[in-house]
Amino acid sequence: MLTEYLMVGEASTSDPAIHRAARVIREGGLVAFRTETVYGLGANALSESAVRKIFAAKGRPATNPIIVHAAEASKAKALVSEWPPEAQTLANAFWPGALTLVLARAGGVPAVVSAGGPTVAVRVPSDPVARALIEASGVPIAAPSANPSNRVSATTAEHVRRHLDGKIDLVLDAGPSAGGMESTVVRLTGGVPVILRPGLVSAAEIEAALGVSVAGCGISESAARRAGDADESPGMGRLHYAPQARLLVVDESALRTEIARHSLGRVGAILLGPADLPDSDSLRLLRLPADSSGYMSSFYAALHELDEWGASDILVERPPVGREWDAVQDRLRRAMGDGN
Ligand code: TXA
Ligand code: MG
Repeated sequence: MLTEYLMVGEASTSDPAIHRAARVIREGGLVAFRTETVYGLGANALSESAVRKIFAAKGRPATNPIIVHAAEASKAKALVSEWPPEAQTLANAFWPGALTLVLARAGGVPAVVSAGGPTVAVRVPSDPVARALIEASGVPIAAPSANPSNRVSATTAEHVRRHLDGKIDLVLDAGPSAGGMESTVVRLTGGVPVILRPGLVSAAEIEAALGVSVAGCGISESAARRAGDADESPGMGRLHYAPQARLLVVDESALRTEIARHSLGRVGAILLGPADLPDSDSLRLLRLPADSSGYMSSFYAALHELDEWGASDILVERPPVGREWDAVQDRLRRAMGDGN
């Protein structure tokens, strides 16, 4: 298949690129589009055959359900069969935005979206491009991150092109995603809210909105399981979010030694703020902002850049701990293949 690339001019339903992309969605095709978290790979959520194409293009196991994106909370509500008070509270506090709610699936939503399960994950994005595309399509859009299964999420149209060219119908290029990391996934079906995947909205913010503590903060899969979560986010397995290079987290004090130890290959290093280390042909240093939002906004882009450069090993200076760093710590554990 020939993938079409279109630049978004103005993030509105009258923009020609968005108009064209909406038509592709309505006709059952796949469109990669920017959201405020990462790029999504979208299809008409109400069409079983269109959603199946997402699984095929990503090489995604049929057991891993997909988030449905709606233009507004009332449209998201129509996709679920129960809307508990916690859902309303969290929707008021964080929608439109980087929070995904897992709720009981309404009859009209094809089972393939939920990998056959009884729940559906819903989110109202804030990115004007995502919103305009959903509105222009006139249907809810099922969209996982626009990357091959188990790989690092795409935060630019170029990342999408590198890994999905020829496999999808259209890429809407709107520049980089602002947030740079995925939404927080919260399950509301089991009585107590459970964070299935830490993301851009921190556990502390969610607890502040709900006024109660939530399970699964930051340790996601294993913690959610201990909290009695039988059907934790199936996409949270080991080796998710992995770059092609080997990834190692190292303390600042050990950076020089570790760089020397790996120097037979091409070493990429992701550092927190300034560091007194030299660049060379076989060593590339990227410095990320030392605050969690700034770090998250550029972390995936840094992994993509080092993979593209041909790094054999990526050394990541150990980021701080603390709830606003949960998503980063979680993705680092997974990228290293340490699912726990
Ligand atoms: O920020 C995001 O969430 C991006 C943008 C495009 O919205 N989407 C995204 O989708 O990251 P994906 O498919 O890459 O990750 C969604 C996560 C997976 O871990 C999946 O297993 C989980 O959410 N999930 C989806 N539906 C679920 C459900 N019904 N129950 C439990 N977990 C679910
Ligand atoms: Mg993903």
